[in-house]
Amino acid sequence: MSNIVNDLVEGYIRNTLQDKSGLLRDLEVYAEENNVPIVHKEVSDLLKVLLKVQKPKRILEVGCAIGYSSILFASTLGEDVEIITVERNEKMIEKAKENIKLAGFEKNITILEGDAEELLNGVSGEFDMIFLDAAKGQYQLFYDMVIDKLKIDGLLISDNILYKGMVAHDDFVIRRKKTIVKRMRNYLDYICKCDYLDTSLIPIGDGVALSYKKEERGDINA
Ligand SMILES: C[S@@+](CC[C@H](N)C(=O)[O-])C[C@H]1O[C@@H](n2cnc3c(N)ncnc32)[C@H](O)[C@@H]1O
Repeated sequence: MSNIVNDLVEGYIRNTLQDKSGLLRDLEVYAEENNVPIVHKEVSDLLKVLLKVQKPKRILEVGCAIGYSSILFASTLGEDVEIITVERNEKMIEKAKENIKLAGFEKNITILEGDAEELLNGVSGEFDMIFLDAAKGQYQLFYDMVIDKLKIDGLLISDNILYKGMVAHDDFVIRRKKTIVKRMRNYLDYICKCDYLDTSLIPIGDGVALSYKKEERGDINA
């Protein structure tokens, strides 16, 4: 139960969406069996549609895990895309490298190994799309490090923003998650009120925020 969408509705959507095939399907099974958190099925389909509409050439991802979402991006966009993805867990990095090689996207996907907090400032160039999918309590910090690297007309996607419903209502909050929930609420308030972004909060999967960058951040929001 996700606490986000009615179970019957969620079940219907998941059963109706087409299953992935090949390596992506294998990675979904691996993730399920090994408790690796990857994007939910309905979110991966939303991402595919967004990718096809926006056609990004450069993507920055924070949180690679076993490489599922990076491979999804590359397989949707083809040979021209460049993806830089950050991961700090050594076992995940090892598995992601294996999977990226298997998928044939070694030229397209670069893993930056280490903590995003230390690495993001050093990432150079501009991006058409940025995907935040790492430690939920650090989104504001990641945001501050990446937003100036997002092009105007670019898309910032933040995953797991409703965190099992806890962000939406105190009744769902587990005591030890209080700080993360408070930080996520502050982050969502921030991106929704930013005058240089248009943001939409979508209650699918574990919650997704889509933020379109209209202009550079000015002094008011800096
Ligand atoms: C939800 S998983 C990413 C899933 C992946 N995007 C996908 O859908 O296939 C989050 C990952 O972020 C990594 N992570 C969390 N905080 C991080 C940080 N501060 N720096 C680098 N990696 C981080 C975790 O080790 C974990 O593998």
